[in-house]
Amino acid sequence: MELGGKSLLVTGGAGFIGSHLTDRLIRERPGNLVVVDNLWLGRLSNLDAAFAAFPGLKFYRTDITNVRALRDILRAEEVDIVFDLATIPLPASLVRPKWSARKIYEMALTVCELGRQGYYQTLVHCSSSEVYGTATYVPMDEEHPLLARTPYAAAKAAADLLVQSYQHTFGLDATIVRPFNNYGPRQNDANYAGIIPIVIRRIRAGQVPVIFGDGEQTRDYSFVTDVADGMVRVAANDAARGGVLNLASGEEITVNRLVRGLAAALDYDGPIEYAPDRPGDVRRHLAGIARAQRLIDYRPQTELETGLERTVAWYLQG
Ligand SMILES: NC(=O)c1ccc[n+]([C@@H]2O[C@H](COP(=O)([O-])OP(=O)(O)OC[C@H]3O[C@@H](n4cnc5c(N)ncnc54)[C@H](O)[C@@H]3O)[C@@H](O)[C@H]2O)c1
Repeated sequence: MELGGKSLLVTGGAGFIGSHLTDRLIRERPGNLVVVDNLWLGRLSNLDAAFAAFPGLKFYRTDITNVRALRDILRAEEVDIVFDLATIPLPASLVRPKWSARKIYEMALTVCELGRQGYYQTLVHCSSSEVYGTATYVPMDEEHPLLARTPYAAAKAAADLLVQSYQHTFGLDATIVRPFNNYGPRQNDANYAGIIPIVIRRIRAGQVPVIFGDGEQTRDYSFVTDVADGMVRVAANDAARGGVLNLASGEEITVNRLVRGLAAALDYDGPIEYAPDRPGDVRRHLAGIARAQRLIDYRPQTELETGLERTVAWYLQG
């Protein structure tokens, strides 16, 4: 599907990945571009570049579980494609499990329901590699069992099933993308931050960086702009639509290597502290990306060390 001229809406678009997706969508020359975010965690400043590049960008500070409000936006903006990225992040689900799980599920339900009612045509729903839990085999392709370990992961898995049920029952034109771990500029470094912003913050503040567990747990890290590009390709490519696609680098990286890379980018050669495992942490993650390579010619561009340098440079300038 040609995205040029279409009306596109990004939920969670003031967040980390959503704001990069918004930047990337501008290159497709949409007819209309809309971001909906309640700024629970996102920041309007994440959209500064997007507003500069596309002055017609519309921003609604709205909770997407508010069905009427979202319906009115979809109707007023005559939206064709919804990119659904709004979420409550994993760390919040360790502190407020019931609220987080309910919110994640309800957000997906609202978006699906409005799709069923015809308020937009096509959905790209953002899932997470967390739904797979710890790898029972690698590389983890899209058929890997869903073995969620945290309330966040379980709710994201439930949301995926919900999207699939709306596809099968009501013919909703929906595709599920499963990014693995993302990093890059604009990743939230305040409440519920992930390891990369936390390590950068600690080193900059003269504190020793902390690794939970032995650091030999692995993740598949992608630079955020590569993943945003994958989401655009999914929407643009008819062959990819309707299924589930992993978006990742296909490279397994230990947390030790990650933290050493960050330390190098920050010229830090001090000690690293080890703390007990975080509850629910997965041990091993390596994505199978053959499907994305085949269907959307997905070729992530950014090497880890280059991406970490760009990420650190962004935090240093902020
Ligand atoms: N960051 C990663 O490494 C990663 C990995 C895999 C999957 N994902 C998925 O990618 C998507 C984006 O994640 P992110 O890292 O950019 O998260 P983020 O927290 O930076 O962005 C999520 C945004 O959703 C907004 N939001 C939360 N509740 C809302 C609500 N009720 N109504 C409207 N907006 C609401 C927040 O304010 C925030 O701006 C999510 O679906 C997430 O599950 C992220």
